[in-house]
Amino acid sequence: MDKQRAQWGTRAGFIFAAVGSAIGLGNIWRFPSVAYENGGGAFFLPYLFALLTAGIPLLIMEFTIGQKLRSSAPLSFFKIRKGAEWLGWWQVIVAFIIATYYAVILAWSLSYAYFSLKSTWGDDTEGYLFNSFLKVLPGENAGAFGSIVPNVFFPLLIIWVLALIILFAGVKKGIERANRVFIPLLVLMFGIIVVRAVTLDNATAGLQAFFEPNWSQLTNGKVWVAAYSQIFFSLSIAFGIMITYASYLPKKTDITNNAFITGFANSSFELLAGIGVFATLGFMAGQIGVPVNEVVSGGIGLAFVVFPQIINEIPTWPNLFGFLFFASLFLAGMTSLISIAEVFISAVQEKFGITRNKAVAFGAGGAAVISVLYATQGGLYIFDTVDHFINQYGVALAGLVEIVFIAWIARELSNLQNHANSMSDIRLGVWWKVCLGLITPIVLGFMMIQTFTADIQNNYEGYPTSLIMTAGWGVSVAAILIGILFTRYKWKGIDTNTTYEKSSKGVAK
Ligand code: PHE
Repeated sequence: MDKQRAQWGTRAGFIFAAVGSAIGLGNIWRFPSVAYENGGGAFFLPYLFALLTAGIPLLIMEFTIGQKLRSSAPLSFFKIRKGAEWLGWWQVIVAFIIATYYAVILAWSLSYAYFSLKSTWGDDTEGYLFNSFLKVLPGENAGAFGSIVPNVFFPLLIIWVLALIILFAGVKKGIERANRVFIPLLVLMFGIIVVRAVTLDNATAGLQAFFEPNWSQLTNGKVWVAAYSQIFFSLSIAFGIMITYASYLPKKTDITNNAFITGFANSSFELLAGIGVFATLGFMAGQIGVPVNEVVSGGIGLAFVVFPQIINEIPTWPNLFGFLFFASLFLAGMTSLISIAEVFISAVQEKFGITRNKAVAFGAGGAAVISVLYATQGGLYIFDTVDHFINQYGVALAGLVEIVFIAWIARELSNLQNHANSMSDIRLGVWWKVCLGLITPIVLGFMMIQTFTADIQNNYEGYPTSLIMTAGWGVSVAAILIGILFTRYKWKGIDTNTTYEKSSKGVAK
């Protein structure tokens, strides 16, 4: 099996792919508003702390697991302990679920890139998004599907065709090549946006609002939790992605340095996005004569309501600015979508001993079919609910279980440390084990309890209980149960006799 395992062509190819996964919508529309709301300039302290104590250490851990065991996430955990296979499948199902709605946002971005050529959205950008474009059902009908919205369906089709072409082409010829083109292009396009943004009138007011440190926030526990969850989401950790991507590394390669490069590249882009977004918001606030805090937003509202509004106001070349912005969202998201699809493609391929093409057809094809559920009039509410719950009780919780399992149950940290040190420029010291064995699980555990309490007390966003029970809790619990179901099948086409315990003796030294 090992002989046929796909492999990255170059070290840079792997780094581009890992960075491509990390840089996503989270960098552009999540980071700026999270940083602003959690202390502005002062947020960089907890953020950097989270990057160094959780982000990079976990990245190193996942890179090492993938590179050492050369397996998909479920097979990796199976090789460490047979009983831990379900954890890998849990991540696979979560990845699958996220892929189904992430693709839909990409479809919106594609449409908006096109709309920006003529500012199709008109003056009432909010009305345009919800009524004309998405044809969203009224709030009291949240939970119903309504009919399919062609405005979303057709671009969604394009997104999946593109993703499938890249995935069918394979790891080296598809994923690596796409990232090598898309990521530099993204940085170039976004660079132009930032230069334009900081030269707009009143840009400095926005930057001032963004960077002004609110030091008193540092004593607020919530701010630290926000920093950890941003780092976690942004680095694509605990999605099974980084294990999968690292499983295509050659037998001899650097691990630790690659993780540092990936982590810092992602954060640099995040900072760049913060500057671009807030300079633009400063301009917007100046145009309508309000303080910057009145125009700040994040997520869908920022990208599809506020940005179109800003584009309406920009004096020179507004359409180019708009196009570059939405094309950036599309590129950033596409490389993340591919990475998340690869998680279930690789797992299905190994489990059922089928060819890559079949795994792509079933895995990504299946995700494409299900994603149509979100291309409906009720899609927005369902997407919002699934997204909140699956990030919390899928990604973050699986991350917590993963780290407790590796550090405390399987007690694998020393083995992994030796393995990483045997091939990396940077040597891992005790700090690495302290971060993973103590700091990260404590913060994650605290985070879990906090969100769990909030979600139990109030319906997320005040949505109807039926929606919360199905798309929220229902989907989150189903991910675990379906994950467990997968472990009932035997691994086909894979020699599971060489378990980790046996093979590690030779490798770790
Ligand atoms: N790091 C990604 C982001 O910032 C998170 C992600 C990865 C989401 C893969 C979906 C798929 O958007």
